[in-house]
Amino acid sequence: PRILILGAPGAGKGTQSANIVEEFDVDHITTGDALRANKDMDISDMDTEYDTPREYMDQGELVPDEVVNAIVDEALNQADGFVLDGYPRNLEQAEELEGMTDLDLALYLDVSEDELVHRLTGRRMDPETGEIYHVEYNPPEDEEIEARLEQRDDDTEETVKERLRVFRENTEPVIEFYDEQGDLERVDGEQAPEEVWEEVKETIEDAV
Ligand code: AP5
Ligand code: ZN
Repeated sequence: PRILILGAPGAGKGTQSANIVEEFDVDHITTGDALRANKDMDISDMDTEYDTPREYMDQGELVPDEVVNAIVDEALNQADGFVLDGYPRNLEQAEELEGMTDLDLALYLDVSEDELVHRLTGRRMDPETGEIYHVEYNPPEDEEIEARLEQRDDDTEETVKERLRVFRENTEPVIEFYDEQGDLERVDGEQAPEEVWEEVKETIEDAV
């Protein structure tokens, strides 16, 4: 299947994408991870305000479309089935995506703003496996893993606020765009991770 997963920062896109990859054997295409792995790449020849993705990401701003579109285009060319996470984030990117591939469905994980802030500030990442944890909701059982967990650079209170503002301004119109096309499947993302997964899985099975 070719799945788009939409949601605000902290909605659980990465968490549910990991389940989707395991269950449906698709590629996880995520612009956030791709950019984090290339935070210091030189983009100065692209007529951008800053010279690397880092400045945008650490402030919670969108990295310029030209940079992100190229990442997604290349990844889609190499993928058969996929779950696309973190893209499109504005209407320009949504239009660009139309020319790149067809989707089987767009899933929207709906979560309230208070819950998002709580999830983001408590999130921890395992730098060795990429696994996503939460200090309260999903702590690791293994003490060795717990000791090496890191916080993402953009999960500070100030940057979280800006990311949510950018989401409301730029990405909510994208959700309306898919809704108007009749392609959007809403899932209540506020439930426990296993319950969200049950709904996500059923929705995908019904669509493909
Ligand atoms: P990106 O990495 O895409 O970040 P984001 O959209 O802000 O989303 P997150 O990764 O923060 O949240 P998530 O929905 O994956 O939640 P998660 O599963 O981790 O982008 C980062 C930056 O890169 C952007 O700000 C921008 O600068 C740049 N960028 C990326 N794409 C771009 C694009 N297309 N264009 C331009 N710039 C781009 O879960 C969060 C926490 O909650 C975890 O701790 C998890 O354990 C916990 N959790 C998950 N589900 C539940 C649940 N059901 N109940 C309780 N806790 C839960
Ligand atoms: Zn994510």
